[in-house]
Amino acid sequence: MSRFEWTEALEIDKGQIDADHKKLIEIANEMACLDDLENQGEELRRSIRKLYEYVKNHFTREEAFMLALDYPGKQSTRINMRRSLGE
Ligand SMILES: [Fe+2]
Repeated sequence: MSRFEWTEALEIDKGQIDADHKKLIEIANEMACLDDLENQGEELRRSIRKLYEYVKNHFTREEAFMLALDYPGKQSTRINMRRSLGE
């Protein structure tokens, strides 16, 4: 499976949000490296849980970032983020 890569085109704030996105790419790449998924069910479950928890925390930070900037699309983005978490 191909790996995800950080590029400067993804840069948002040169701070916490970028650090979060880099970490999310790292977690996604860990998952992409899992092979023989039938025999790695427990590792896959741990990776999915790790990704879910990291995304959830990231969305909280990203919401605060959007509010601080008074980002015009903050309401619809917030709804989409919550929806993607199944909330
Ligand atoms: Fe994000």
